[in-house]
Amino acid sequence: RRYRKTIIAGNWKMNKTLSETKAFADELKPLIGKPKWCEVVLCVPSVNLQAAVRLFKESRVAIGAETCHYESNGAFTGEVSAEMLKEIGVKYVIIGHSERRQYYNETDFTVNKKVHAALEAGLYPIVCVGESLEQRELGVTMDLISYQVKAALAGVPADKMRHVVIAYEPIWAIGTGKTATAEQANEVCEAIRAVIRKLYGARVARSVTIQYGGSMNAKNAQELLAQPDVDGGLIGGASLKAPDFVQIINAAN
Ligand code: G3P
Repeated sequence: RRYRKTIIAGNWKMNKTLSETKAFADELKPLIGKPKWCEVVLCVPSVNLQAAVRLFKESRVAIGAETCHYESNGAFTGEVSAEMLKEIGVKYVIIGHSERRQYYNETDFTVNKKVHAALEAGLYPIVCVGESLEQRELGVTMDLISYQVKAALAGVPADKMRHVVIAYEPIWAIGTGKTATAEQANEVCEAIRAVIRKLYGARVARSVTIQYGGSMNAKNAQELLAQPDVDGGLIGGASLKAPDFVQIINAAN
């Protein structure tokens, strides 16, 4: 574990207005202290990114976006580029979240292009992979995850891998209250590390942060984060309440 950072990241999805974001910052900052062993990230809707960067400036919380476009500019109405995010002080960007794959035509191909765009701009991509319930029941989880990881990282050189975070989010565990067991989570995170080891060697593999996401909360965080290959969490619902989010951060500390 000393080879890599633990990262606790909230994914707010399409939640919280500007005033709610301010109220959350006021509530979280006094609670959070100085997390020693883990990095804390909040990924918020793009319209509130700039405010979030300002609100958390003096704290240990880094700000992340929830997606970006793969081109740096151009005729892509409604989209935001990695460069634009970087310039306003955003540090991370979630790429390939299953909701984006499901509702917004995100494919392994666009995920890969976005990973390249993020790295090029100097952002840290949090790349999401995960199987559906049907895929798990068919017994193809490991094959699918391995494919998703390889596709996302195609063409990424080894020296950029220290900026890449992988998040394992089984789709059946997202927003369902059904968490993967600690063993299931660790099994897949370990398999992801093995894929990275094959691609980049042992040194890179042990330095990459691999998170678990899917109904992680104040109650189950400790057990999940105690797993040797689970290096943090990507937290949806439980990141919307400051006390819950703090409990998860403390579970990682
Ligand atoms: O990206 C985080 C996420 O998809 C998990 O959501 O609400 O199950 O914690 P939730």
